[in-house]
Amino acid sequence: MQEFDKVGVVGLGTMGAGIAEVFARAGFQVWGVEVDGGAMERGRDHVRNSLSKAVDKGKLSAEERSGILDRIAFTTDREDLRDADFVVEAVPERMDLKRDVFADLDRICPPGTILATNTSSLSVTEIAALTDRPDKVVGLHFFNPAPVMKLTEVVSTISSAQATVDIATEVAKRIGKTPITATDRAGFVANALLVPFINDAVSVYERRIASREEIDAAVTKDADLPMGPLALADLVGIDVCLAVMDVLWEEFRTPRYAATPLLRRMVAAGRLGRKSGRGFYDHGGRANMPED
Ligand code: 3HC
Repeated sequence: MQEFDKVGVVGLGTMGAGIAEVFARAGFQVWGVEVDGGAMERGRDHVRNSLSKAVDKGKLSAEERSGILDRIAFTTDREDLRDADFVVEAVPERMDLKRDVFADLDRICPPGTILATNTSSLSVTEIAALTDRPDKVVGLHFFNPAPVMKLTEVVSTISSAQATVDIATEVAKRIGKTPITATDRAGFVANALLVPFINDAVSVYERRIASREEIDAAVTKDADLPMGPLALADLVGIDVCLAVMDVLWEEFRTPRYAATPLLRRMVAAGRLGRKSGRGFYDHGGRANMPED
């Protein structure tokens, strides 16, 4: 693999901050880019808190924490990515935002720079087509929490060069992940399996067949998974679950992929899971959030 160590991460929300942490832990020099100072500071806090928890648990020394933090340059200026060898975009799941980011990255980054998207619900092929280098665009799909989950999907399109896919796969290995390759189809591999399962659980809950705790316990206790589907929906984001269901529906038009109405109503009500403070469970959210 070509030697490089300068990586950009655009968007420092939950996923982007986690991704920046993962790269910095693996020794890469990282630029973490946000749209304004407030979002940038929230991203920095996210990384700092995550590393501090590791220090508290004795998994990381204070010096290692400083070293990792020092390897991340937090910035609001995308032009800082002019030297980046590899960039991961992790901005919210809206094509207009992706268009803006990828147009800038295409202009700013050297022609050889690989541009990866962490999208979970948009077409990587469409994102690649926003650039003049579709052969160098690939999906690099991380799972939440990014510092913990080993699986990473490397998503190829009909435009991506094999060398790009190979490098992205190698990068995923270098940061300690277990990559699988997938072609650009709605849901890729993991979400095409996982999110309909979450949707089914929401439907069971919506029909009042069991309480949310009982539904989650059925899976954690019986199948020995770390989280039940409703708790996982809160972690992933109800809006992300809905977006994935909707692209599955758009692509395959089978009743199996029809989002359950409650999922849609929860998004409309702003009950997005942990990030809004309330989803299926209360996470200390806003006082005016409707109760069950
Ligand atoms: N950042 C960094 N580290 C974290 C973390 C975070 N946000 N959350 C938990 N951890 C670490 C903890 O520090 C701990 O580390 P240690 O073993 O070194 O002490 C370890 O993870 C376990 O955490 P906890 O002991 O606090 O709690 P749990 O054992 O309950 O684990 C969990 C929490 C890792 C979130 C676990 O419940 C889990 O694996 N849940 C399933 C998550 C999952 O399936 N994610 C995929 C969602 S799908 C997706 O993201 C795709 C998208 O496109 C929709």
